[in-house]
Amino acid sequence: MPERGYLYAEANCTECHAIDRGDYDSPYYGAPAFSEIANVPAMSELALYSFFQTPHPTMPNLIVPPGDIRDLVAYIRSLRK
Ligand code: HEC
Repeated sequence: MPERGYLYAEANCTECHAIDRGDYDSPYYGAPAFSEIANVPAMSELALYSFFQTPHPTMPNLIVPPGDIRDLVAYIRSLRK
């Protein structure tokens, strides 16, 4: 569910990423805003899934549990224009 994905992102990702719709100003230099990721054509649902199945390049300790991946992908996809 996108709503759950938003809550997960709010708790775990806002340190670096802008996560709100239309917010392109990430706090961490180099971390793309979720609204930006949502609109990259190559970032299909499948690409997002495989991204979350590998450790984050900048944060090897960030492993998202499978159930939360589904919610996160749903949230990011919901930001698509
Ligand atoms: C410590 C900072 C930090 C945190 C916390 C963080 N990220 Fe990232 N993330 C980055 C950076 C920097 C990049 C871009 C550089 C890279 O891909 O190595 C990135 C890249 C991404 C990408 C890939 C974008 C692309 O176009 O390849 C996604 C998707 C993503 N993050 C999602 C998340 C999610 C979801 C969370 C929370 C569960 C999260 N990130 C937490 C720093 C962070």
